[in-house]
Amino acid sequence: MRLTVYGGRRLFGEVAVDGAKNAALPLLAATVLTDDEVILENVPDVGDVRTMIALLESVGKRVQALEPDVYRIRPERELTSTPPDSLVRKLRASFLLLGPLMVRRGVSHLPLPGGCPIGVRPVDLHLKGLKALGAQIESQGGFWCASAAQLHPAEIHLDYPSVGATEQIMMTAALIPGRTVISNPAQDPEVHDLARLLIKMGAGIMIEPGRLHIEGTTRLQGTTHTVIPDRINAGTFLIAGAIAGGDITVRRCQPLHLEALLSKLDELGITVQEHVESVRVVSDGPGSFCGGRIEARPYPGFPTDLQPQMMALLSVARGSSVIKETVWESRFAHAAELARMGAQIRLEGSTAFLEGVMRLSGTHVSVNDVRAGAALTLAGLVAEGVTVIVDRDEHIRRGHRDLAGELNRLGAAIIEETSEEKEVVSSEVR
Ligand code: EPZ
Repeated sequence: MRLTVYGGRRLFGEVAVDGAKNAALPLLAATVLTDDEVILENVPDVGDVRTMIALLESVGKRVQALEPDVYRIRPERELTSTPPDSLVRKLRASFLLLGPLMVRRGVSHLPLPGGCPIGVRPVDLHLKGLKALGAQIESQGGFWCASAAQLHPAEIHLDYPSVGATEQIMMTAALIPGRTVISNPAQDPEVHDLARLLIKMGAGIMIEPGRLHIEGTTRLQGTTHTVIPDRINAGTFLIAGAIAGGDITVRRCQPLHLEALLSKLDELGITVQEHVESVRVVSDGPGSFCGGRIEARPYPGFPTDLQPQMMALLSVARGSSVIKETVWESRFAHAAELARMGAQIRLEGSTAFLEGVMRLSGTHVSVNDVRAGAALTLAGLVAEGVTVIVDRDEHIRRGHRDLAGELNRLGAAIIEETSEEKEVVSSEVR
């Protein structure tokens, strides 16, 4: 896929946010925990979700779209426990199936997953949790084999509040009678959305500061659940409004999940107005806000998935900025691409030092993960001339239904060309 962005246009109007990709993925994985019918609403139609749906079908589920963004998941045939390598390697979140398939089938095999190249992305905390629950884990030729030898509830401490490991342990423990406690769990809204689904399915889950209690049971039932809004895509649109200048409102979002971003935008001097389910941002664009300090940390800290987008914004701030990335050890690939557009960025380990410039210049840039793609698109909105974003592996579409189309409806001028055919996305020049 390739995006051709014509810079210099301000953004006006409203955009509605889809359901959260990073909530939908574990919610879909949790459907293997029951043979009853589960209906999920507000499921975003993005690449990673399509891959997870294909994974569910590969292990015996039938996934039907009842209407746009509403899916019914129920058994097609007996559940199997070894999804195909080709699908697993496309999506890191496929690893979430290891525990649930094991607890249902007695054994599960999964190859080490793929995903964005933003770091080594180990799974040691997932495996520590499953072993604590009594699973036997063996590594066989790049595959992990988990067998439910003598499963039992456990007290598990996570050395790091890993989102995936918390979700993996929660789902597995939900089908192990007795009380499992996770200390130092991830506190992300997406984790709590999964807890709400598991409670509806019959597990008892209680969340207190620093601890998550799961009362497991022998059988979980079907239910209906609505996916929470995507706070990362909401934040991406807010940063788009801030960088390009103009006046936009992001609807169907939960401002409570965006506190770290909203307070930071306010601190930079950007006008932000919170409403019940929407946020409005008003900005004069490049040079109208000051630089600042960002530290990407586990939730409720500043989200790492908005760090690249903020780097684009701070590239055209007044004065200097510092960005420290504490979650992923190599999530600065977008810095080199922004520098090619004229951004002044110096990297020292996991810290980026920026000097704001008044204007970026359009050029050819390449994308290597979902959020970097969004960041470069936002930079293109304010670059002089034309920015061509080459996204060979369609990373942007893994996390966004239609980023170019949404931004064009706000006044941007972006032509999107998929690998098969040339699609010109019309746009009005405001
Ligand atoms: C989830 O990934 C998100 N993905 C990521 O979003 C997000 O960046 C990340 O959480 C942090 O918020 C989904 O939810 C599908 P982690 P996850 O386990 O679960 C280390 C996007 O762009 N770690 O919290 O893989 C790990 O190396 C994606 O939508 C271990 O050391 O993240 C990293 O440094 C990118 N051992 C840190 O924890 C483990 O067993 C965060 O990982 C697991 C993780």
